[in-house]
Amino acid sequence: MSQRVCVADFEAQARTVLPKAVYDYYRSGADEQRTLHDNVEAFNRWCVVPRVLRDVSSVDMSVSVLGQRLSFPVCVASTAMQRMAHPDGEVATARACRAVGTGMMLSSWATSTIEEVGEAGGAPGGAPGGVLWLQLYIYKDRELSLSLVRRAEQAGYQAVFLTVDTPYLGRRWDDVRNRFKLPSHLSMSNFSAPSMAFSEGSYGADSGLAVYVAKAIDPTLSWEDVLWLKRNTRLPVILKGVLSVEDACQAVECGVDGILVSNHGARQLDGVPATLDVLEEVVRAVGGRCEVFLDGGVRRGTDVLKALALGAKAVFLGRAVLWGLACQGEEGVTEVLNLLREELRLAMALAGCRSLAEVTKALLRRRDFSRL
Ligand SMILES: Cc1cc2nc3c(=O)[nH]c(=O)nc-3n(C[C@H](O)[C@H](O)[C@H](O)COP(=O)(O)O)c2cc1C
Repeated sequence: MSQRVCVADFEAQARTVLPKAVYDYYRSGADEQRTLHDNVEAFNRWCVVPRVLRDVSSVDMSVSVLGQRLSFPVCVASTAMQRMAHPDGEVATARACRAVGTGMMLSSWATSTIEEVGEAGGAPGGAPGGVLWLQLYIYKDRELSLSLVRRAEQAGYQAVFLTVDTPYLGRRWDDVRNRFKLPSHLSMSNFSAPSMAFSEGSYGADSGLAVYVAKAIDPTLSWEDVLWLKRNTRLPVILKGVLSVEDACQAVECGVDGILVSNHGARQLDGVPATLDVLEEVVRAVGGRCEVFLDGGVRRGTDVLKALALGAKAVFLGRAVLWGLACQGEEGVTEVLNLLREELRLAMALAGCRSLAEVTKALLRRRDFSRL
């Protein structure tokens, strides 16, 4: 095994160990994948203009996210079906997050139960680290969705991220070609009915997951459901998948506790903006009324620095974590998270920032060096 020095090394190795259909499912974006490339490229449209002579011998990266203290502002986004990457799946990811002191968002479509992940990654008695959040899809059967929320509350999860960009599944060409479905030994573990657990059935000449979503997930999802969810849980509710200023404002009016600026890793509507490109306007519109986060394309410490400088409270990693999991289970995820942490520490120090409060827009220029 050659040394892994950056997230790209993890992806290269993951590609060699994963079955092709699994790698394709993890990697793919929708349609022609223009947004997939743009999510990554958007970070290169900004330069960092460092400040010097600032005694950066100590850099504080700790941050408060949704009322919880994290050791650095890089969290784990929900990615479905992690046991395809490694037998320990989501349990390994949760252990890694707890070890490094950051938060993990568990997918509704996990291949581990809410309870076993709670056990592995939770923080009994308020111990440091071990912050878990539930990512929620709204099923046509509302009680089914609510039962996930109840179980998360019971198991000590601290917030619900409601995914709002998936009334239908985006069209991912490789998944159609591969007729993607779960390997037969796995299921979406939080559902007892096999039809809801994506573990049986024939899906025709299509992505099995797209067929599953069309059958189970409710495309009538609307702002009413956001209010419904808020009425039905005491946990903070964050909307995952907001890109427009108008929706961000409406979300704030609905009383949400946070907004995750996300395009679902470019897996839904191709041609939407890179998340970094809309972050600033969303942050401005929200005006501090709730926390704003970003995911999509984050691969390097300098990416994190740029997202924070443009106003994100923290960022989330999707694929990077899957690559770590595929390479080496819990240790691989820990390695990826530590890599991002050390890359961010170095980026902050070299930019002259001793704390996150010093990471501001003043550090950034557009690549054409025009001053904004
Ligand atoms: C393989 C894969 C599975 C995903 N599954 C879910 C999911 O179950 N629920 C959800 O809200 N988002 C899901 N996402 C989107 C991620 O939560 C996140 O928004 C995205 O991966 C961030 O982009 P990045 O992969 O470039 O970091 C998934 C993304 C990937 C790559």
